[in-house]
Amino acid sequence: MDYTTKGWGTKSVHGGKHKDTQYGALAMPIYQTSTFIFENCAQGAARFEGTEKGYIYTRLGNPTSTALEEKVALLDGAEASLATASGMGAVSSTLWTLCRAGAHVLADETLYGCTWALLTHGLTRYGVEVDLIDTSDLEAVKAHLKPNTVCVYLETPANPNLKIADIAAVAEIAHTYNPDIKVVCDNTFASPYLQSPLALGADVVVYSATKYLNGHGDVIAGFVSGKADFINQVRMFGIKDMTGSVLGPQDAFLILRGLKTFEIRMQKHCENCKKVVEFLKNHPKIEKIYYPGLESHPNHEVAKKQMRDFGAMVSFEVKGGKPAGEKLLNSLELCTLAVSLGSDETLIEHPASMTHSTYDPEALIEAGVPAGLVRLSVGLENAEDIIEDLANGLAQI
Ligand SMILES: Cc1ncc(COP(=O)(O)O)c(C=O)c1O
Repeated sequence: MDYTTKGWGTKSVHGGKHKDTQYGALAMPIYQTSTFIFENCAQGAARFEGTEKGYIYTRLGNPTSTALEEKVALLDGAEASLATASGMGAVSSTLWTLCRAGAHVLADETLYGCTWALLTHGLTRYGVEVDLIDTSDLEAVKAHLKPNTVCVYLETPANPNLKIADIAAVAEIAHTYNPDIKVVCDNTFASPYLQSPLALGADVVVYSATKYLNGHGDVIAGFVSGKADFINQVRMFGIKDMTGSVLGPQDAFLILRGLKTFEIRMQKHCENCKKVVEFLKNHPKIEKIYYPGLESHPNHEVAKKQMRDFGAMVSFEVKGGKPAGEKLLNSLELCTLAVSLGSDETLIEHPASMTHSTYDPEALIEAGVPAGLVRLSVGLENAEDIIEDLANGLAQI
């Protein structure tokens, strides 16, 4: 059946389904195997040559992962998708596929801390030129493209301050300058449910599937989605030869299971977050809120245009700065002090000393991440309980 025109729930439940012809299993079996048996040498050679379809070795593909990759491709509206062992595996395998010494990457200055470190301290070691700018400033994007630019890289909403870049406008500028530039969008905060970067003009989407795609805080994984040709390059070079960042079949199964409730989870996450934002907005101890659903957000109009809802991530500053924020984090009981996001549990953290501690302090300020910023990933508990916990914590300050 063609699921491309079906609703989110149907896609999430049925996408990538392969009929189990051996035993008729309803759920996708876990093919816990490192390698696959060839009937004879000719078959092994044909599989390596690509003249015969079939599995070879799990680093190159595995039936459980294939089912998952097809489901994520369907959710992303992509020709193909590729599962990786982590979000950083998706980011690094993509960048290693695109870059060579002398290439130029134009990236946003506000990124997940390890992506920032990979770009500034990692790729630059190997002769890749990296410029960091604010991609929500379209004139800056135009001004920094160069003949050797191979990639424009952005996160929107960005981690941790929910900055929004206009994906369609950035893609238009980059492709007008040079159609071969790949616009890569990290869609982790939005997930495919809230935003479709490929439909907006991006070439490649990357995810930490550790977050909303799996959704249960028990797996580390990533995805790369895009044109089949490019995904094949990432699989056969970026992963096979450069990073080896392969998702294991057990984890693929867990994400397949997590995705079955994708639509209802995302709806509840967004609904809960709106209630939490409403509470924070009216609280006298809150200095500033970073949430794209607020009209006061500098790119609220862009968010409204390109997102189907505003997500469940909200960052804020407490009056009294970092010490007050730390007091709050140390006082909470239901909201859990932990990095990561997009889990069933509400998680709260301090980016400057945790997820973004890879940044130089000046670069963090430049990226719009104040020392006192607190990042909250609103979970699936009852909103009134999350709010009560936050109210109790704020009362301790
Ligand atoms: C936006 C974003 N991209 C990528 C990553 C890296 O993902 P992982 O931790 O799964 O390697 C993260 C992790 O927090 C993230 O927030």
